[in-house]
Order: sequence, then C-alpha cells, then structure tokens
Amino acid sequence: VYAVQVLTKDFFLYLSKNKALNRAAQNWGGNIAAGKIVGGLDFPSSIKFIKELNEEGLSVTVDHLGEFVTSYEIARERTDECIQTIENIAVQGLDSQVSLKMTSLGLDIDEKLVYENMTRILDTAEKHKIMVTIDMEDEQRCQKTLDIFKDFKQRYTHISTVLQAYLYRTEDDMKDLNQYKPFLRLVKGAYKESAKVAFPDKADVDENYKKIIKMHLLNGNYTAIATHDDAMIDYTKKLVKEHQIPTTQFEFQMLYGMRTVTQKELVKEGYKMRVYVPYGNDWYGYFMRRLAERPSNIAFALKGMTQK
Ligand code: FDA
Repeated sequence: VYAVQVLTKDFFLYLSKNKALNRAAQNWGGNIAAGKIVGGLDFPSSIKFIKELNEEGLSVTVDHLGEFVTSYEIARERTDECIQTIENIAVQGLDSQVSLKMTSLGLDIDEKLVYENMTRILDTAEKHKIMVTIDMEDEQRCQKTLDIFKDFKQRYTHISTVLQAYLYRTEDDMKDLNQYKPFLRLVKGAYKESAKVAFPDKADVDENYKKIIKMHLLNGNYTAIATHDDAMIDYTKKLVKEHQIPTTQFEFQMLYGMRTVTQKELVKEGYKMRVYVPYGNDWYGYFMRRLAERPSNIAFALKGMTQK
C-alpha cells in the first residue's frame, strides 16, 4: 500500500508540471469542482462562497490560480486581476486576504517585471490594508522569492510569505527573516524535491514543522499554521497554552473544501481560522498537488467534478 501511495504521489507531482495537460485543462474549463475545492472560475463567482465562509466566522485568503507564467502579457493580466480582486474585497467588505505566486507575476521571465507587478499590487494592498501573502513554490525559486519578499518588506507592511518545513534551509531562513518580524505562513511543503534539499522522511518533516512553529511563535511573530494535520494542530494548541501566547498572535489555515467540520470546530474553540480559496481556470497544477498529498482526495475531487 505504501509503495502505491509513493508512486501515486510522484505520479501526480510529475503530472502537475505537465504544460500540455495544463493548457488542455484551461481550455476545457468545465465544471472544476467549483464550490468544492475551487471557489469558481472568476472572482465574482467566488464571492458567494467567501461570504458563506465569513458568515461562519471563517476568514479567507483568495488565490487567483496560475503559475509558471511565460509571457509578459499574461503576467500583467494576472497583476491586473490581483489588483481588481483586492479592490473587490474592499468594496464588498469581505474578510479576506490575497495569496499569489511569484511565477504568476513573471518570475521565470524577468525579475524586473515581477518588481513592477508587485509594486502595483502592494500599492493597492497598502491603500486598502489587505495582506498579500507570497506563496512559496519549488526550491529552485525559494531564494529569489525570499529576496523579493525581503526587499518589499522594508517598504510595505501588508506583505507576508511562506516557509516550508520539508526544506533543510528553512530553519536558517527563519533566523534570517526574524529581523523583519514577518507574518509567516508555515507549511510542510507541496512540491517534489530531491533529498539534496528536502527531508525525504515524513517524520523528519513533521519534527521540523513543530520546530519552526515553536521558533516563530516564541520569537513573538505572527504565525499562520497551515495544515490539515491534527497532530500539528494539537501541538500548537499545547504550545500556545504553555507559553501563554495570545490567540491574536497566530491563526490556523486550511485549504477550501478540506476538513470543513474541523475548520468550524476550531472557530468554535475560539481560534482564528483562515480558508485558502483558489479561483480561476488555471486549476490544473493546484489540483494535481492536492491529489498527490492525499490519494483519498481523488474520490472526493472526482465526485465534485461530475456534480453540478
Ligand atoms: P499531511 O498531508 O502531512 O497529512 C497529515 C495527516 O493530516 C494525514 O495523515 C491525515 O491524518 C490528516 N489530513 C491531511 N489532509 C486531510 C484531509 N483533507 N482530510 C482529513 N485529514 C487530513 N505548500 C507549499 O509548498 N507552498 C505554499 O505556499 C503552500 N500554501 C498552503 C496554504 C494553505 C492554507 C495550506 C493548508 C497548505 C499550503 N501548502 C503550501 C500545502 C502544504 O505544504 C501541504 O502540502 C499540505 O497542507 C498537506 O500537508 P498537511 O500539513 O495538511 O498534512
């Protein structure tokens, strides 16, 4: 069973990077489990899902799906879309932040383009006091992403990023970032990485995850613990109790459609809970990574695709 799971994980992570299938998926559009694991094909059609979540006491971060963009034009379109989303959030009074990927703004094309695009986005975010989180992509792009984060963090307050527990470098990155007192989302890590850069053993990833949660919280920084894993959630609950860390210094985060009962339970217990709601037609890579993480998501997601 373990061998099959490993194969499945690698298989879906491999598929997640297949450009031809990605293009086909975008053209297909179709019913992509909208309202189940993806908000909708555009922001307006996602608003009703965000409002439903907000009404249940859940905060949101929206992500306009799209990554590994290779044209200036599309990178600028993604930027415009992101700016419009921030403005829409403000106008609609939604309890929502924004998440984005550096490759969707042109990281693989030209770094100057990313700086231009990020400046426009952060000017808007600053105006509306809406936090923008830079998702962390694969290890190859980690240093560049952190450099961009550090540069903007010196001039903007509404910016945050992500560290991944599976990378060996993460503990050092956290020490380095501490001088900026950053808001950070902490995750285990979702990409296929080699043993040269990432812990191959899940138990080591979990240990490192606990370590960085503790480090960031005890450094007095705002921490988003983004996981569906009860063991990590319980660890955090005990840690904050032991060190009397207020509930205003941290939040839990989960992906839209995952563990929906637990999400609401955490709110009832008095914790802040934020749901990551992706939207857009470039859903292929996101979808494949979710399948890789948890084979049982396959049945769940496929069911979603065939239901209206
Ligand atoms: P993991 O997959 O290790 O599972 C541990 C245990 O949790 C399972 O054995 C099971 O018991 C339970 N569990 C997990 N999923 C469940 C489910 N759906 N239902 C019931 N039980 C479940 N990654 C990245 O590289 N860059 C990023 O920027 C982000 N951003 C991000 C934002 C948010 C809000 C989240 C929640 C996650 C990310 N990730 C991410 C993804 C992250 O790195 C990771 O791949 C997934 O969250 C899966 O790891 P978990 O910690 O959830 O548990």
